[in-house]
Amino acid sequence: MYTQSLDIPDPSSATAPSGLRPVPEPVSAETAALQARFDAAIDADRKIEPRDWMPEAYRRTLVRQISQHAHSEIVGMLPEGNWISRAPSLKRKAILLAKVQDEGGHGLYLYSAAETLGTSRDQMLDALHAGKAKYSSIFNYPTLTWADVGVIGWLVDGAAIMNQVPICRCSYGPYARAMIRICKEESFHQRQGFESLMAQMQGTAAQREMVQDAVNRWWWPVLAMFGPPDADSPNSAQGMRWGIKRISNDELRQKFVDATVPQAKILGVTLPDPELKWNEATQRHDYGAIDWDEFWATVNGNGPCNKERLATRVKAHEDGQWVRDAALAHAAKQRTRTLKEAA
Ligand SMILES: [Fe+2]
Ligand SMILES: [Fe+2]
Repeated sequence: MYTQSLDIPDPSSATAPSGLRPVPEPVSAETAALQARFDAAIDADRKIEPRDWMPEAYRRTLVRQISQHAHSEIVGMLPEGNWISRAPSLKRKAILLAKVQDEGGHGLYLYSAAETLGTSRDQMLDALHAGKAKYSSIFNYPTLTWADVGVIGWLVDGAAIMNQVPICRCSYGPYARAMIRICKEESFHQRQGFESLMAQMQGTAAQREMVQDAVNRWWWPVLAMFGPPDADSPNSAQGMRWGIKRISNDELRQKFVDATVPQAKILGVTLPDPELKWNEATQRHDYGAIDWDEFWATVNGNGPCNKERLATRVKAHEDGQWVRDAALAHAAKQRTRTLKEAA
């Protein structure tokens, strides 16, 4: 098992066993000693585990990041889920079903990891459904054609891998362990996307045009997915100090561009950036300016599909209420039966 036990109670619950609550921050000399022990663990690249003392800001940062990551996984199921019933063959349908199901699983590992920090799944989902929690900007773009599904696998999952592989070395144990498994599955997602596009590029002229059109629409939002430039990311330095973030946004974006250009050549598509070119001096690709106004508008709820995504997610949650009710009723029945047998 990669993730920690789900049995971490909500810290606000009066009945929570004290051993499982986040340890309150002590004062004075004791705090200093705990902080020193925490700093030493970070410096020595040791993992921080749920029962270890940690600074409140470290805990809050992780809750925010892991829950945003979990939300991105389950909202990310929606743009591709739209195409399950319209996949062009049984083979593609089976692959897409498996992929979308994987994304649901990623969300579950990550909600579990966040719960080890003393938050609850209900709290996290309430924040998402109320529009208070963020998720990746990329899932607010529409999937207009079948080629979009391939491009999401190739570019969006490709960018996710670039972003997520360094998190396997994150200082917080449960998050790092969840990411190891997630990255293995993301690698399958990226390959299936590339393979699907390859098949389309070997098809008719209309299919090739459809792929190029999808690449044109997704390329810039995918580059923005890595987050604002380092100069505008005030939290990054602290994240690096804590061993939560290992590689900066700009560096990850550059690595992604450098890895993707040769893949685009193999596919036979053009990346829609006239300024994209190899720089002999830096041994990397230069690329054009990203539209950060569009990125912030999308992050702040005004992208092309934000309202639709949130409404679909809320409806899915409400439609699933009977399943949660049934599971709870079943668990209660089991408990009563066990108690009766014990008596
Ligand atoms: Fe995922
Ligand atoms: Fe994925």
